[in-house]
Amino acid sequence: MVMDENRVKRHLLYHYFMDYHYEDGNIIGYMTTHPLPISIWAHNLFIDSNMGNPKLFPGTSKMEKYVVRWLSKLHSGKNVEGKLLSGGTESNITSIWIAKMMGKRNLIVGESAHFSFLKAASLMNMNVRIIPLKNDFTIDYSKIDAGEDDIIVGVAGSTEFGTIDNISKLNDISRKSGAFLHVDAAFGGYVIPFLKKMNYNLPDYDFRFDYVKTISIDPHKMGLATTPSSVLLTRKGLYRKIEIPSPYLTKTRSSTLLGTRNSASIASAYANIKYLGIEGYMDIVKYCMENTRFLRDISLDNRFELLLEPVMNIVNIKIRNVRKTVKKLYPKWIVSPIERYDSIRIVLMPHVNRISLEKFIKDLKDLQSKI
Ligand SMILES: Cc1ncc(COP(=O)(O)O)c(C=O)c1O
Repeated sequence: MVMDENRVKRHLLYHYFMDYHYEDGNIIGYMTTHPLPISIWAHNLFIDSNMGNPKLFPGTSKMEKYVVRWLSKLHSGKNVEGKLLSGGTESNITSIWIAKMMGKRNLIVGESAHFSFLKAASLMNMNVRIIPLKNDFTIDYSKIDAGEDDIIVGVAGSTEFGTIDNISKLNDISRKSGAFLHVDAAFGGYVIPFLKKMNYNLPDYDFRFDYVKTISIDPHKMGLATTPSSVLLTRKGLYRKIEIPSPYLTKTRSSTLLGTRNSASIASAYANIKYLGIEGYMDIVKYCMENTRFLRDISLDNRFELLLEPVMNIVNIKIRNVRKTVKKLYPKWIVSPIERYDSIRIVLMPHVNRISLEKFIKDLKDLQSKI
C-alpha cells in the first residue's frame, strides 16, 4: 500500500521513537554519539556523493584528501596516504587484506583486540594467535614470537579498556621479525593526540615508529562525524597492493573493499575538522575526561572498585553477577558487559552528562545490593 508523504513521515516518527537516542542520556556504554550539527548539514549536502566513482565527485575527493592529510599530520605521517572507509571494521579488514597481499599469513592480536580482526582472519583464512594481556591490560609483547609471515596488531584505545599497547615494543618485534604492524586507533585516534597536547603522559603509537604500516581512525566515534566513517592511513603505495581493475568507471582501478562508498561522511568529517580544529577537539576531549574523573570519583565514593585507572574516557567498574546486572539495568541504562573481568564498561562520550552518571551509580548500587 502506498502512502502520502505525511503518512510516511508519521510512520518514520513512530519508528524513530522506538529507537534509543543519545540525548536521552541512557546510552552510556557505546562508542558513537550524536554527530555535530555542522557535520549533519555537510552529510545532507553530499548525500548522493559516491567515491566509488571518484572523478564524478572531485569536490568530495578533495575533502577526502584534506581529512587524510589532517589525520596523517596528527599521527606523525610523512609519505602516508589514506581513504575514508565505512567503519573500523572495514579499515581493519583492509589493513589485513593489504598485509595478505604482501605475503602475510597469520594474525597476532592481543586479547583485547576488536572482534573485526577475527572477521578479517575468517575472510582471509588466516591463523590467529591471541596474546594475553599484562596487568595493565595491554598486550604482553614478551609472549609474541613473530616471523615474517605474521601480522601484529597493536591497539591504541582498546575497545573494552581504552588502554594503549606498547607500540614501541611491537615496532621492535616487527623490525626484528619482518612482521607487518597495524595499529587500531579506531577509538583512540581522535582522543590520544589531543590528550598528549594537553600534557597527558601517554605512549606514542603512530607513524613515528618506522615499522607501523597502517593505522585505523574512526571519525564516527570521537571525531563526532556521521556514520559510517573510518580512515585507514597507510604508508604510501600500500593501497596499490589491493588494486583491482574497474574498467567501466571514471577511475580504472579500485583499491577499496567496497565499490560504492558512502561519501557524505567524508563531508561530515571534513566539516568537523574545519569547524573544531585541534583546539575544538581538545575542548571536547577535556570535557569527556572531566566526566571520566567524575565517574571514577563517584564510583569509588560509592564503594565500587575500578578494574583499572582510566587511561582515556572509558571507566570499567567491577560488579557482581555482570550478566544479570546488565540485563536488569536495561533498558533504563545501556552499558557494556565485560564478563571475563567481572566488570562493566562506561564510555564517556560527549553526550554523557553528570546528572545521568549520578543517577546511574545510584541505580547500580541499589541493584547490586539486591543481587
Ligand atoms: C578499537 C576498535 N576497533 C574497531 C572497531 C570497529 O569499528 P566499527 O564498529 O566502526 O566497525 C571498534 C568498535 O568499537 C573499536 O573500538
